Amino acid sequence: MARERARGGAGSTQARLFVALDLPAEPRAQLAVWRDELVSGRTDLRPVAVEALHVTLVFLGYRPEHEAEAIAASAFGPLTQLRSVLLAPRALVGVPPRRPRLFALDLLDAGGAAAALQAGVSEALERSGHYEPERRRFWPHVTLARVKRDRRADPLVAAPPEGAFEAASVTLYRSRLRPGGGALYEPLACARIGLPS
Ligand code: 2AM
Repeated sequence: MARERARGGAGSTQARLFVALDLPAEPRAQLAVWRDELVSGRTDLRPVAVEALHVTLVFLGYRPEHEAEAIAASAFGPLTQLRSVLLAPRALVGVPPRRPRLFALDLLDAGGAAAALQAGVSEALERSGHYEPERRRFWPHVTLARVKRDRRADPLVAAPPEGAFEAASVTLYRSRLRPGGGALYEPLACARIGLPS
């Protein structure tokens, strides 16, 4: 907290914020079980907690804490006009490939609904002055495990789980960095996506 406060200067508490597409509870739990088996015995990796498995849409970084409500209103504005998203696991990948910092599930966004959703949220937040869009293209993925600091990870190889899932809600999260590494994600506000796919 002291560190977060210091970032904003005197009296201004800063919150590290991001907007993510939520996985439905059941596929998310199944994904965590699959991942847990895959990384069992791996001391080089830190698995992402089941409740933290998500598809990041927009990472805002540190913003004044009091802006969170306006940020949620702005980010969720386009959702009523957008479709829920059907995503299918495509591959397990290391990022970056040569010396991974994390392992993620690459997702197929066949109808482009996830990209449209991401663009809508990003543009809304840009218009409201809370976000400067990233230059790199949106990549639909779920981070499954991160490589521990100062470790070089062995490869993680497996066929991706089968099937597809429909993601129908978006959450604004606050990320609280933990001193020993890793972060806790606190949901601040959540909204459903308007139209069924
Ligand atoms: P990820 O989607 O690859 O896991 C909170 O840190 C979430 O925002 C994570 O899920 C993380 O990556 C994502 N994120 C995107 N850009 C980030 C950045 N520059 N710094 C930290 N996290 C970022």
